[in-house]
Amino acid sequence: MFGAFVEHMGRCVYGGIFEPDGAFSDSDGFRTDVLALVAEMGVTIVRYPGGNFLSGYDWKDGVGPPADRPTRLDLAWHSLETNEFGVDEFMKWCSAAGIEPMMAANLGTGTLRDALELLDYANTDAPSEWADHRAKNGSPRPYAVKVWCLGNEMDGPWQLGHKPAQEYGRLAGDVARGMRMLDPSVELVVCGSSQRQMPSFAAWENAVLEETYELVDHISMHAYYEIEGTDLQSFLASSTDLDGYIGDVCAVADSVKARKRSDKVMYLSLDEWNVWYLSRLQARPKSPEWERAPRLSEDDYTVADAVVLGNLLISILRRSDRIKMACIAQLVNTIAAIRAEPGRPAFRQTTFWPFSLTARYAVGQALVTRVVSPAVSTGKYGEVDSLDAIATLDEATGNVALFLVNRSAADAVDVTVDLRGFGPLEVIEHVMLSDPDPMRANTAADPAAVAPLDRPGWSSTGSVVTVNVTGISWNMIRLRPAD
Ligand code: AHR
Repeated sequence: MFGAFVEHMGRCVYGGIFEPDGAFSDSDGFRTDVLALVAEMGVTIVRYPGGNFLSGYDWKDGVGPPADRPTRLDLAWHSLETNEFGVDEFMKWCSAAGIEPMMAANLGTGTLRDALELLDYANTDAPSEWADHRAKNGSPRPYAVKVWCLGNEMDGPWQLGHKPAQEYGRLAGDVARGMRMLDPSVELVVCGSSQRQMPSFAAWENAVLEETYELVDHISMHAYYEIEGTDLQSFLASSTDLDGYIGDVCAVADSVKARKRSDKVMYLSLDEWNVWYLSRLQARPKSPEWERAPRLSEDDYTVADAVVLGNLLISILRRSDRIKMACIAQLVNTIAAIRAEPGRPAFRQTTFWPFSLTARYAVGQALVTRVVSPAVSTGKYGEVDSLDAIATLDEATGNVALFLVNRSAADAVDVTVDLRGFGPLEVIEHVMLSDPDPMRANTAADPAAVAPLDRPGWSSTGSVVTVNVTGISWNMIRLRPAD
């Protein structure tokens, strides 16, 4: 649930997690201030190396002595790729961060053979040429990477090596069969649509799963949201779209399951999701230069963005019966909750807060949580509930955590939280992320402008808690069994 994504895009890798000789870097070139924030954020798994970057990437360029590695043109992001950071550096970084790696095989310009050789390099213990290379490059022990993506966004015409659904499905099926022959323990993610708005959406999932249903474990989903024009209220209700998207992908997967008379449940890997001001990136004049690690999509996230992000997490937890993997995209600098500038300590964007607190306290089971609330009217989704929420129960301690958003751009709501099924509980804390100016952001000049605040005004009788939540707010209420 609390995965993230590191792509060779902009300053996510170079200047983000990796900055040799930087003021905060260790002897491996890893930024230690970023490592500390990644730990605080609670990230569990990281998908690498792309993204659109993946489809033009030859992983062999990024292994071996750094001085011998070639510099290449990255066509996806019109950047220079120096290959100073590759598979071995990524694995080392994951181990420094205590994070599980999730790798992707290039099925754009890459072949079945490339994918098998990468898997051999990463996971084989038997004597083989690629395992030998890995050992010579400093890692005699295999990396044992469990989760593998079979390409990236292969439905998108912008993707190098984009293919029609059936063609991609056949290739992904072949690669899946081969990878399982080499390492039967792998868990495989086949590409779904790059977004729900694609004209081929649903037909793509259907055709791809027809070819791969019994060979893969997850189908991917990617979902990004931004304010369109000045329609803040629709933006605040963005999770309505994600709820529908998840339901649609389950429906298509289940229809393939029925046609195949299969017992297998196809899980969802929401392996890219976030608030992303893609329109700003698209509007930016294209540089004629091929620059190393240009600044791309380094948006300053606002309070409203953080509320939307917290709501997307509520949607993800609500469908944790089918979503078994989710990666916020990305981790540092590019579309990210962590910002790292040269020579200054990295800082938390507003979106860091709902992610890190949910990751820390959404422990145990996600509960079916019924919400009754006043409606708000949106241009895009019609009438939606102003409130959305999910509760989790940590069975080991009996602690309950409630994550709650007020998506109304205008009105505060008095909320009654009825938890009578649990017996007497006492409130540990109610924290709220909100601001009189919903466009307020954390910046290098004022990195702590926005942070969640303790909200002491709650009242509680037995298992019923009453709180007031302001418009455009993300809230967390934690409770424990009363003595
Ligand atoms: O995360 C940025 C980009 O968004 C990824 O490279 C691509 O997969 C998606 O379109």
